[in-house]
Amino acid sequence: MLHREKLVVGNWKMNGNRAENAALVRDLLSGLGSLAGIRAGSVGVCVPYPYLAQISELLKGSPLFWAAQDVSDAPSGAYTGQVSASMLNDFDCAMTLVGHSERRGLNHESNELVALKARRAVAAGLRVLVCVGETEAERAAGHTEAVVLGQLGAVLTELDGAALERLVLAYEPVWAIGTGQTASPAQAQEVHALLRGRVGQRSESVAARLPILYGGSVKPGNARELFGMPDIDGGLIGGASLVAKDFLAIVAEIAR
Ligand code: 13P
Repeated sequence: MLHREKLVVGNWKMNGNRAENAALVRDLLSGLGSLAGIRAGSVGVCVPYPYLAQISELLKGSPLFWAAQDVSDAPSGAYTGQVSASMLNDFDCAMTLVGHSERRGLNHESNELVALKARRAVAAGLRVLVCVGETEAERAAGHTEAVVLGQLGAVLTELDGAALERLVLAYEPVWAIGTGQTASPAQAQEVHALLRGRVGQRSESVAARLPILYGGSVKPGNARELFGMPDIDGGLIGGASLVAKDFLAIVAEIAR
């Protein structure tokens, strides 16, 4: 039977400072050291841009990888305030998020823009973690499938066969983010299976190996049930990733 890669990725969002980051990373590294069964590269943190240098230094040679929270769709040039994929590479970045619902919502990012960012990241050699998810109103109107398939479809249009190998997906229902109201394991599983099925229409083998993470109020108390579902391959963790003991307790659930 196929053993799909399991991942837990913390998204620090716009939190932290030099001192807090150093303390958090120290606690994570010492805790990870005593967790059996965690593969190097299966736990990562998405840090704010100004701390790229600090975190890449602290994590050098460690089993924890670091990732960015966003990337530009342009290679370089007159794009004030943006950060390119090759700049991330310069700091040994392993992965970047794109399409987080906070960027889709607050920064009005379209499915097409998110897909172009994904293409640019992959072309620069990064893995790309694409977030998809519906709002509460979209779910209530019965549009969940159409919304997440539209978000995924745009990305599939931009990624060719080789690029697809570097894709990771996260299903993050917007109504579950930071609300304490998580999707039930069955609700999440249904969407994860739908997403895997859609990728399978492009490539069965990529779909079988594709990690699909769940995000939205994942906590130590609900991670086991969520990660136990057949198409949930780990989590994208917001608030709980800022508390070392909580994040480590969630990470322990992929080692089981
Ligand atoms: P919370 O875990 O705080 O709900 O955030 C989830 C998230 O948005 C991760 O990207």
